[in-house]
Amino acid sequence: MSDAAMPASDTLLASLRGARLLVIGGTSGFGFEVARRAADAGARVVLVGRDRERLEAAVSELRATGAAAGGAAIDATAPGALATMGEQLGEVDHVVSTLGGAMGGGFLDADLETIRETVEGKLFANLEVARALGPRIADGGSLTFTAGTGGSPSTSSGATVGNEAIATMVKGLAIELAPRVRVNAVAPTWTETGLWRDLDPQQLEETKASMAEAIPLGRTAEVSEIAQAYLFLMTCGFVTGQTLAVDGGISLA
Ligand SMILES: NC(=O)c1ccc[n+]([C@@H]2O[C@H](COP(=O)([O-])OP(=O)(O)OC[C@H]3O[C@@H](n4cnc5c(N)ncnc54)[C@H](OP(=O)(O)O)[C@@H]3O)[C@@H](O)[C@H]2O)c1
Repeated sequence: MSDAAMPASDTLLASLRGARLLVIGGTSGFGFEVARRAADAGARVVLVGRDRERLEAAVSELRATGAAAGGAAIDATAPGALATMGEQLGEVDHVVSTLGGAMGGGFLDADLETIRETVEGKLFANLEVARALGPRIADGGSLTFTAGTGGSPSTSSGATVGNEAIATMVKGLAIELAPRVRVNAVAPTWTETGLWRDLDPQQLEETKASMAEAIPLGRTAEVSEIAQAYLFLMTCGFVTGQTLAVDGGISLA
């Protein structure tokens, strides 16, 4: 089929055929779904996560569908880990990072160390991704980070700072890496992923229900809806420096 005859979304995904995609945080949640969809579109994917068993299960699941998939079990925040992996991998076309976490507590009531670690794990961990891997991204490629919405500064202090810092970082990096590489972020709100695997089933259901009530669209997201946004930012060649909220409108409420 010629490009002109393809639905617009398929034309974007067609650019992923044969592309090399590195997903840092690719063994679970958003990252895994991005990898699965990109692999479906013909990308060669490399997944990164710390837990070896989870990594092997994720790579096997992709390979079972015929995907070209590999992986590395590393802690991306360990000094030098990303640089070493970059040397081994060589050039890639797209990098996605879902590094970061969540926290509760305001600026005064949360533990100072928790706030510091949350900002470190969001801003500085992802800045390391950009510094170590940005130079290894091929011309015309992309770097897509993960921010977040829905928390308030008084109840999720460090996470809010981290998410806003990601939005600021992508604006800077987008200019610094232009015109070679585009840099963007996806900002989801509460979504059922592996991030919440330590909640018991009742806590999970209660949190999901209360988030659904707070979200103007009246429900929480499917992981696939968030993954679509990463794929859009990776493939739409004229978007850079943007943080795309995919949050059912909670950031407007
Ligand atoms: N889900 C939500 O409700 C929500 C809402 C807003 C924003 N976010 C953002 O989304 C991101 C989390 O994604 P997710 O919800 O899809 O969570 P997830 O299912 O827990 O996935 C996180 C992925 O990152 C990997 N990972 C974590 N730390 C790592 C490290 N230091 N080195 C290498 N890999 C690492 C995890 O594997 P290992 O654990 O094996 O390392 C896993 O593959 C965070 O940036 C979070 O702030 C999530």
